[in-house]
Amino acid sequence: MSPSENKQITHYISRKSYSEEETIELGKWIGGMLQPGDHIYLHGEIGTGKTRIAKGIIAQYSGIHLDDVVSPTFTLLNRYGEDRVAFHADFYRIDQPDIEDVGLEIVYEYASVLVVEWPEKMTECPEAALKVSLSYDEGENERIIVFEWRTGSKWDERMSDIEEFSQITKNHGISHQVN
Ligand SMILES: Nc1ncnc2c1ncn2[C@@H]1O[C@H](COP(=O)(O)OP(=O)(O)O)[C@@H](O)[C@H]1O
Ligand SMILES: [Mg+2]
Repeated sequence: MSPSENKQITHYISRKSYSEEETIELGKWIGGMLQPGDHIYLHGEIGTGKTRIAKGIIAQYSGIHLDDVVSPTFTLLNRYGEDRVAFHADFYRIDQPDIEDVGLEIVYEYASVLVVEWPEKMTECPEAALKVSLSYDEGENERIIVFEWRTGSKWDERMSDIEEFSQITKNHGISHQVN
């Protein structure tokens, strides 16, 4: 394989959030463009807002109230919605080899939406996911939220409207990653 074939092109868009509400709104925007079978991986330290953005995503996608989406930290996997089923997983408390016991097969079987906190713990990631990385910034309520996906994947089109959605401080581009 030549070096160029070994290169994976990744597209990214970065957004700044100044409040919990803004992060939830961004989540709702994502939830509004999702299709069955889409997977979202949420990366970031504790307290950066993974559960907040997940609430927005799932409430919007499954058509339920924000307050009904609760953190799966203890349950590991929560299921929402009837017609538009979404699963919310949080693997923070689990050891890698035990993830198979959580029963993720059901997610793949029904082509549901899957939102994962701490996806680093998963041994295999079968779906080309939209990667969302949250990090702290200077102010107490400031977060940087970076969306990343493989160029040429379904996310190119899905993410194309985010420019119009958000006038928040932005920075975007394409990065080349060597596998
Ligand atoms: N801009 C912001 N976006 C998201 N959460 C924020 C923001 N500013 C402050 N917060 C607070 O940070 C915390 C994020 O918690 P949570 O979503 O549970 O994080 P995680 O799931 O990443 O551990 C909440 O207490 C929330 O009120
Ligand atoms: Mg959380």
